[in-house]
Amino acid sequence: MTDKPELDLSDPRAEIDSIDDQLIRLFVERMARTDEIGRRKSAAGVPVFNASREEEILQKVDRLVPEDLREDIRQLYRSLFACSRARQSRNPARLGKQVPGRPSVLVLNGPNLNLLGIREPDLYGKRDYAALEDYLIQTGQDEGLNVTCVQSNSEAYLVERIQNALGIYDAIVINPAAYTHTSVALLDALKAVSLPCVEVHLTDVSAREDFRTVSYVREACLDCFAGFGFEGYRKAFRLLKTYLTKNKKPA
Ligand code: DQA
Repeated sequence: MTDKPELDLSDPRAEIDSIDDQLIRLFVERMARTDEIGRRKSAAGVPVFNASREEEILQKVDRLVPEDLREDIRQLYRSLFACSRARQSRNPARLGKQVPGRPSVLVLNGPNLNLLGIREPDLYGKRDYAALEDYLIQTGQDEGLNVTCVQSNSEAYLVERIQNALGIYDAIVINPAAYTHTSVALLDALKAVSLPCVEVHLTDVSAREDFRTVSYVREACLDCFAGFGFEGYRKAFRLLKTYLTKNKKPA
């Protein structure tokens, strides 16, 4: 049997590396512009999401690429829009200080939690989502953790954030909200990345309707704190901190 000739990919790879350098530089520049737009929208009280502007861009990119690349470029642009929107929704005052060397925790809050304060205040309390983010950042700092908060009403976006957490965050705290009771996709994503994760609910889901006693994600979580309001997230942080200290990977 003859040996397969060595596959030489060095030329196209060098070209890809150089294209990536340009893409990365342009990505950073694009984000700086969308941040500026975010600041102006926020000052003018204009909502972040602008469906007609996104559609206009998608139609333009459609025209600029060969037909067989249209769906791919649309996918790429949808990710770009999601990144831009997430950044524009973030209040810089609520980013908190990221202290080097501290464990990093991604906090994911699912659908309708953006309506805290408005939605069923007798159940969920009168404090709004901004107050929850303030609490999470402050509590994270008190507990010696770098906390990043994400809220989304989209199951797909939450799945993507879990997937992208690999290699970036040390642990996850998740309140999947209504997706708790329905989402195999979130369970699979958590299992796939296999990061230590704790489930949190503001209310005591075990004492509400029967369908709320089912949690698909629980199988992938170290524990669940439900019914403690905001305080449940502090309990999750403490558990994760102890867990991460005990299971510290050798440097
Ligand atoms: C919740 C409980 C869920 O059953 C519900 O769908 C939510 C919030 C909680 O935090 O108590 O949206 O996760």
